[in-house]
Amino acid sequence: MRFSRLAALAGVLLLTACGGEYPQSSIAPASDFAHRIQDLYFQIFLWTMGILAVVWIVLTYILVRFREKPDSPEPEQIHGHLGLEIAWTIVPALIVVAIAVPTIQTTFDTQTPDPDAMVVDVIGHQYWWEFRYPELGGERTANELRLPVDRPVALRIWSDDVLHSFWVPQLGGKRDAYPLRAVPEGDDTKYNWIFMTPQEVGTFMGQCAEFCGQSHAIMGMRVVVESQEDFDAWVADWNEGHAEVPAAEEIAEAELEEELQEAIPIAEVAALQDTPQDVQDAASQEDASQDTASQDTASQDATDSTPVSAEQALIDEGRQVFQSGLGGCIACHAVQGTDAAGVIGPNLTLLGRRSTIAAGWLENTPENLVRWITAPQDIKPGVLMPGVDVAGGNWPATGLTEDQVRAIAAYLHSLR
Ligand code: CUA
Repeated sequence: MRFSRLAALAGVLLLTACGGEYPQSSIAPASDFAHRIQDLYFQIFLWTMGILAVVWIVLTYILVRFREKPDSPEPEQIHGHLGLEIAWTIVPALIVVAIAVPTIQTTFDTQTPDPDAMVVDVIGHQYWWEFRYPELGGERTANELRLPVDRPVALRIWSDDVLHSFWVPQLGGKRDAYPLRAVPEGDDTKYNWIFMTPQEVGTFMGQCAEFCGQSHAIMGMRVVVESQEDFDAWVADWNEGHAEVPAAEEIAEAELEEELQEAIPIAEVAALQDTPQDVQDAASQEDASQDTASQDTASQDATDSTPVSAEQALIDEGRQVFQSGLGGCIACHAVQGTDAAGVIGPNLTLLGRRSTIAAGWLENTPENLVRWITAPQDIKPGVLMPGVDVAGGNWPATGLTEDQVRAIAAYLHSLR
């Protein structure tokens, strides 16, 4: 038995050694669900190692003890030995039961949602993942799912087109995402679910695990598990959105108007209207000089406090091109707090905070955003997004110029 323990230990050490360097390891659990699976896996592993040890020990003993020697007599024939027949029927049956009971238990336990679980929609698209938070404020994001640590979640999984499969090995088992079918009236829509509680802060890699087309192999995702405070801050920032920041001159003008309104009380304005023309002229002249003076101060203030850098100018240009509908970006994409409200492609709110673009395939840098906007099909064959020269899905090529693409990339990267 000592040998079997040693063998088991060696085996486990070997296996855990595989866990560290690989971000999609299924034996480095970080959620309660993944821990349950790991425990089960470990139990079954011990059983199989025990069986292996017994078989080897008995086999070795027999090979040595009963090896053929010169002049050995014919060995005793024990075909049909009742005791042995019963033993090797009952023992394996008991082992199967010992494995089946915890397996079935785990299966049922992990299918039961926590009543306080936060529902998050996980939607597969060719070739990206969408995440929606219907129980918060309807927040939407893509390819990077954010979850608070130690809070039970219920992932409601479905697909917008073909079969996909959601799999983040460190957080639990995989689940197919299938297109929702019409159900008879009164019946519930059949979603697939994963119920789990992430237990570690960190970023966990996932992968579409069902062949879904040309770019299936590069349909990745990340799950960012963070503290409740960080998560709440992200939700608040998301809802605040990216409303257009008024340009410096506009701020100055607004301030000026406010100042003027404060400077001339309403009664005085009313009185002015009844004053003879010459007095009015004099008064407005006075106002005008005041006007110019304060405008000077205001514009100087604005220049001092918000210098418009070349980078900011590029971002402003990108915002303008994006929001104007040139290139067709807003037909598919939404940015919270702006007029862009497309729902076909990924929601781009807080895009600058994501670590990757193109469903985990490219690092999120302005250069890669330029590459992606210019020719998405070169990076992800079969993608629905059109490029500068190549149409995508039902959409014509965007026809954006190089400068416009660079400006849009700067704008998108600034959404943080
Ligand atoms: Cu989506 Cu494979």
